[in-house]
Amino acid sequence: MTDHATPDAQAISQTIAAAQSAAVEDRLDAERNQLTAEHSLIDPSHLVGTELEVDYETDSALDDDDSSVSTSIAASVVAGNWEMGRRYHGFESANYFLPNDEEEINRLELQHRIWYIVFNGGLYLSPLEKDKLKNVLDIGCGTGAWAIDFADTHPNCEVLGTDLSPIQPSKVPPNCSFMVDDAGKDWAFDRKFDYIHTRSITSGIRDWDRFIEQAFENLTPGGWLELQELHFPIECDDGTATKDTPLMKWSYEIYDAAKKVGIDTLASFKHIERLRKTGFVKTEESYSKWPIGPWPKGRKEKKMGTMIAKDLADNLRGVSQKMLMQILGKSQEEFDTFITQVRNDIFNPKIHIYIPIDIFWAQKPLESATDIE
Ligand SMILES: C[S@@+](CC[C@H](N)C(=O)[O-])C[C@H]1O[C@@H](n2cnc3c(N)ncnc32)[C@H](O)[C@@H]1O
Repeated sequence: MTDHATPDAQAISQTIAAAQSAAVEDRLDAERNQLTAEHSLIDPSHLVGTELEVDYETDSALDDDDSSVSTSIAASVVAGNWEMGRRYHGFESANYFLPNDEEEINRLELQHRIWYIVFNGGLYLSPLEKDKLKNVLDIGCGTGAWAIDFADTHPNCEVLGTDLSPIQPSKVPPNCSFMVDDAGKDWAFDRKFDYIHTRSITSGIRDWDRFIEQAFENLTPGGWLELQELHFPIECDDGTATKDTPLMKWSYEIYDAAKKVGIDTLASFKHIERLRKTGFVKTEESYSKWPIGPWPKGRKEKKMGTMIAKDLADNLRGVSQKMLMQILGKSQEEFDTFITQVRNDIFNPKIHIYIPIDIFWAQKPLESATDIE
């Protein structure tokens, strides 16, 4: 049943958002700076292409001292559809099933921090020539955190972030801008880009063949496309969880629900093939494993696992309710019981599950048919 918020509720939400916006953005800046300093102290290596090793010695449950990593920024524009107590984007509303409200913004900001650890403060793996970059595009930019960081660290290029939702902050670097756009439609940008980036937009893309073709068409010769994506179902390498473990089962159900609405959460398995078929060269791929909980060895891995578990547990209902109730038809009672079991697994130190991350980067050749025409 649709539960539209009253105009009053939206007005209050807008007022709160406006009042909090500046202060929260300042806090975010400070927290990002602190994070940079913190991670340069932990370990100079990033966590791409590395395996997780189970830490059997500290088989302990999650501690709570990381609650400060959960933060909030206010949406700069509050708009959209309200359903089951959550706000969803109002643009092409049938296309994306995750919310875009404060809670989701917090989740994306926390995920940005996790990516930050994975890349050890870096933002990409493509061998970009920093001085030659003029235009950069971040598709499905969410809160704009990646685009803002990229613009900050590359002041001589223009960074454009696009998304279905206008949830980006208003205080951004002068070389950074945002627009509402559906990447599933024909792209109509007024410029070509030297680098096109995506990060965890798999749940919003139905036709990856077309997406990669459009990226190719919208790159300058020699430009790079980088896809930083994850795939579902989640995985477990050591048999501590099976397909019937509620947390694993949850991810299989998300996979099934997505499939029903035309989204393949295993799309990344064919990205290399797609990139090559489209004409990209120098195609590369790597991976990362995001532990759910602090079960692996290593301080950085434990910190990441703690953040991921909190992120998932706090947002489990929001990211699942449309998929499991509206698409798979679970009743409220079934949903509530299931979510409780899944949450228990998230905090069970005996279960060693991770979210598989796939990263691809590839170059458009210096000369290609689309540029000669
Ligand atoms: C999980 S969030 C990731 C956001 C951001 N890339 C990040 O890593 O922080 C996915 C984002 O993709 C956006 N999205 C999904 N489908 C899209 C589409 N077809 N066109 C544009 N944006 C889309 C969603 O609105 C959401 O903000």
